[in-house]
Amino acid sequence: MRMNGVKYKSILPVVMIGLVVASLMMNGFDTVSGMNQVEAAAASSSSSTFTAFLANNAPGRTLKYVNGVTTVTNLSSTVVLVNKKRNLPSHYVPQDLVIPQIPFSFSGPSPKKQMRKIAATSLEKLFAAAKKDGIDLKAVSGYRSYATQKSIFERNASIKGEAAANKTSARPGQSEHQTGLSMDISSASVGYALEQSFGNTKEGKWLKVNAPKYGFIIRYGKGQEKGTGYSYEPWHVRYVGVFIAGEITRQNLTLEQYLEKKQ
Ligand code: DAL
Ligand code: ZN
Repeated sequence: MRMNGVKYKSILPVVMIGLVVASLMMNGFDTVSGMNQVEAAAASSSSSTFTAFLANNAPGRTLKYVNGVTTVTNLSSTVVLVNKKRNLPSHYVPQDLVIPQIPFSFSGPSPKKQMRKIAATSLEKLFAAAKKDGIDLKAVSGYRSYATQKSIFERNASIKGEAAANKTSARPGQSEHQTGLSMDISSASVGYALEQSFGNTKEGKWLKVNAPKYGFIIRYGKGQEKGTGYSYEPWHVRYVGVFIAGEITRQNLTLEQYLEKKQ
């Protein structure tokens, strides 16, 4: 009996570490004193955990064919890669959507005010920092369901044609807005429009410099059109976590390039 007790005690820490690592691999995030687990791993001596996390979320490892559609498998990871070649299932809805307490460009309730919890909390910090610096930002559009994205794309295609729509608007299943990790942001100086001139405003410039400090990248950068498949969108930020956002921004990479390099 005593022997068994000793044995159980000695394997308990190993089991607990295993559970933490398993949960990290499955979820990709969890708040640990303000940092997500990926960042905690990246910032700590357990950088091998971080390397393993990136390897497990590598583009080549997170794709499967479902009814002929290339579908991503790491749906709820903070580094999920969604683009023209990598679709979210039509039924995917993030489970932890909340409304960030930040100013919006419109009033009243709307599903597009939502983001996933970790992105919402980080965006609240970004907006607080902007306010402190006298920068007036407003959120315009966050989470969008597959069905909403479908009607947005179809409307754009009917107005400007499918090829033109395809440069600025994602097809259903291919929008980061469905991940709950993205938000479109604008300012009064451009009438809260989502247009490239926002990038030349002091608010757009502030956003570009400061977004990475709170875990966000400008997902569709200037000069990155070929890699991302979309026109420059200075208003669209995507949460990836502070550590990764810093690396991507410093190295001027697309999310595609960063994740490919790490696999
Ligand atoms: N404008 C971005 C690409 C979207 O529609 O998700
Ligand atoms: Zn957007």
